Amino acid sequence: MCGIVGYTGNRPVLPILIGGLKKLEYRGYDSAGCAIVTGEGRMEVYKATGKVANLEDKTRECNNHGTLGIAHTRWATHGVPSVTNAHPHVSQSGNLAIVHNGIIENYATLCEQLKKRGYTFKSQTDTEVIVQLIEYIMTIRDCDLAAGVLSALKLCIGAYAIAVIDRRNPTRIVAARKSSPLAIGVGEGNGEFFIASDASPIAEYTKKIVYLNDEEVAIIEKGKELQVENIRTGSVDFEIKDIDLDLTMLDKGGFPHFMLKEIFDQPAVLKDCMRGRVIAADGGYRVILSAVEQHKQKLVNASRFTIVSCGTSWHAGLIGKQLIEHFCRIHTEVAYASEYRYNDIVVDPGEIVIAISQSGETADTLAAIEAARERGAMVFGIVNSVGSSIARRADTGTYVHIGQEIGVASTKAFTGQVTVLAMFALALGMERGSVDPAEYNEVLRELTLLPDKIERVLQQNDKIRDMARTFTYARNCLYLGRGWNYPVALEGALKLKEISYIHAEGYPAAEMKHGPIALIDQDMPVIFIAPHDRLYHKIISNMQEVISRKGRIFAIITENDHTIRKICSDVIEIPETPACLSPLLSVVPLQLLSYHVAVAKQLDVDQPRNLAKSVTVE
Ligand code: F6R
Repeated sequence: MCGIVGYTGNRPVLPILIGGLKKLEYRGYDSAGCAIVTGEGRMEVYKATGKVANLEDKTRECNNHGTLGIAHTRWATHGVPSVTNAHPHVSQSGNLAIVHNGIIENYATLCEQLKKRGYTFKSQTDTEVIVQLIEYIMTIRDCDLAAGVLSALKLCIGAYAIAVIDRRNPTRIVAARKSSPLAIGVGEGNGEFFIASDASPIAEYTKKIVYLNDEEVAIIEKGKELQVENIRTGSVDFEIKDIDLDLTMLDKGGFPHFMLKEIFDQPAVLKDCMRGRVIAADGGYRVILSAVEQHKQKLVNASRFTIVSCGTSWHAGLIGKQLIEHFCRIHTEVAYASEYRYNDIVVDPGEIVIAISQSGETADTLAAIEAARERGAMVFGIVNSVGSSIARRADTGTYVHIGQEIGVASTKAFTGQVTVLAMFALALGMERGSVDPAEYNEVLRELTLLPDKIERVLQQNDKIRDMARTFTYARNCLYLGRGWNYPVALEGALKLKEISYIHAEGYPAAEMKHGPIALIDQDMPVIFIAPHDRLYHKIISNMQEVISRKGRIFAIITENDHTIRKICSDVIEIPETPACLSPLLSVVPLQLLSYHVAVAKQLDVDQPRNLAKSVTVE
């Protein structure tokens, strides 16, 4: 979702802006633009719909060697994707330019007030209102850009990450954030600064980064000390952190798409996720999570858990619920963050809210944890992006440590989140004495074997690619699973929908007979997730129900399952593992299946239409 890049320093700014936008492409967008200012105060603005490459083409005619600039990828909220609506937006006088990520909720009111004062608007965006408002304030108060931004933001209701420049001061950027991420890279040595929506465009230039907090404004000037002010309380101290980003995660490593790379990365990154946490000890295994150790008392005595998350992370939460209830015997609910934040929620004394997020910037999840905190809940974050907003707002938590995920369709984040949830439930279960020590040891041992078992699943990639051809003609698909694998059915369906644009439903297999069975015919592929667990025989009955209605079935089965092979010829095998860990294996063929369907349909796998990687608006 919208990406921001900016720079002030001594280098030519254009390549930094274009290169930075390319690194943010994974977030999802529909148009792009940039504004560049020369030393003499000349400002040029370029915009294009579609890919950053289109913007790059337009800037080829640019002979502006400016060293100050801002750039943006836009994901439309107010107004269609178009050149006019693309950012940067320029103020009426032409002096100021702004890029913005977020939504200004009271933009219509502000717009009316500014129109009465003679301002006209070219775009349909809420963003243009901010830059006109800043200009209006600077004019009537005769103040500089920083003071104008500070005052304007007090009048804006909603979410924003902004960067504003004034062509009359070709060394300064004023940037601010509220509920939308923004980071500042502090150049090493020569007084240069970078800004970006996340660390990826910054990491190749500097390792020093400052993450702004809500309602903070940064005054960023070449050759000067960085200044940060809260819009209400004035000057604030800030912390310069080291960027924790593995740059090899940012390229495709020889794979045609990030999504495929990330699927194949899973064995290695799950080892990273477990490193130093699952350890061999005393002839057995132990799991150590520092957050569980540090907050043992509160966690052990938790009255219940509520998991809040969205999309794929919500599916991981459904498995987390089963893991926590199984190993810890603590009642656990799973809520869509987007619903939870507006529900009349009841937070019990001693309740702990677990927020799961890959990006750590999902607006709904962030708002849900604020709602939980207001009612006194402790918040435990399971977040992948280090230093992200959710990681910082949580009281404590565990990083997933699977490296940056670039493909819009989440893959390795899901298996990482489930792995963390398994470690969490086992660690807490042991502290509570609610887990059987033999099962604890066995599940931990199996966790260490999972990376190799995922490798075995990945070896069936060619077979899955062949199978995918059948799906390219499908208009609807059904994914059915039970127990531990019902959330995997949901996740498989979501993956197919989002990158193949095929309508797919995930359902608890036994629930099919209460409605969806009416859809079954020879044109409806039905995918069963049917490992050899306690519901195995039940799911075979569900398969028979589909077969007798001429449905075409595909199945994910445990290796050496000859029974299902007799009724279904299209099978993918997963190695045997304890039932509670089976989602970590059964999801992998479904990730590959949706990938190959999308490739066969010649779709843009890494940047599917309408989707954004980090959903920073509600
Ligand atoms: C699906 C997908 C989304 C995200 C959801 C939550 O492939 O990527 O459904 O899972 O937007 O995002 P995070 O985990 O960043 O909070």
